[in-house]
Amino acid sequence: MPLIVNVRPISSGDVDQAVTIHLAVLDMEFLARFGPSFMRTYYRAWVTTTGSMSFAAVDEAGDVVGVLLGATDPATHVRSMVREHGFALVRAMVFSAALRPRLAKDLVVTRGGRYVRGVARLVAGRLGGATSTSTPPPDRPKVGEVTHVLVDPSRQGGGIGRLLVDAAIMTARDHGNDELVLVTPPDLAARHFYEALGWAADGSIVSRSGESFLRYRFALR
Ligand SMILES: CC(C)(COP(=O)(O)OP(=O)(O)OC[C@H]1O[C@@H](n2cnc3c(N)ncnc32)[C@H](O)[C@@H]1OP(=O)(O)O)[C@@H](O)C(=O)NCCC(=O)NCCS
Repeated sequence: MPLIVNVRPISSGDVDQAVTIHLAVLDMEFLARFGPSFMRTYYRAWVTTTGSMSFAAVDEAGDVVGVLLGATDPATHVRSMVREHGFALVRAMVFSAALRPRLAKDLVVTRGGRYVRGVARLVAGRLGGATSTSTPPPDRPKVGEVTHVLVDPSRQGGGIGRLLVDAAIMTARDHGNDELVLVTPPDLAARHFYEALGWAADGSIVSRSGESFLRYRFALR
């Protein structure tokens, strides 16, 4: 008999289980290398910020078996993460890196300058009380994003990933997004998953940290 799985917004009580799945399936990801304590801080920040969307797939026993993180308004979401949770995230990251010398080196080499500039802006914003807001031109498409879709390894292949992406698509439509975008590493099988769900390949990009990703888009209108 198939198990029933419900999809709902992630609550703070889901964070521990969500992080356990994240570390089980995406342990190679840069942020995951900072470990469970940092990842819990990251998830708690993500699920409470303006402009984000986050879903947990929960089974009949109430256990989290899948997770989706994304944003209906990525720019607002990033600003909210930095302003409201920037210090907690930096503290958790530095603490974790101090215990992991190789990770600390990778952090400095690939992201050091960018993160230091971010912290400087954060401190300047706090001291000056300045806030920057930007209103996009009305004719520019409203683009949301999916950043992570994760399913417990023992439950993969059972339609849970599709339920999570469907929830993100519905939410993005409700928020007036014109399309959703995502990136995925070229070596992950996830690209076949997104193609099976009707996402269109849209070339590749190299991130500011030098990593290559495939881009996908899903039109909502
Ligand atoms: C990718 C992932 C989220 C898919 O979740 P899932 O619950 O296993 O996927 P579903 O069962 O909902 O599959 C939906 C469709 O995608 C297809 N699909 C899923 N994974 C696939 C794969 N690796 N290769 C080819 N097709 C795949 C399924 O066949 C299904 O198609 P169908 O409905 O036409 O039969 C899950 O495998 C996972 O967590 N992987 C590790 C983490 C990851 O890579 N996340 C993405 C990057 S953030």
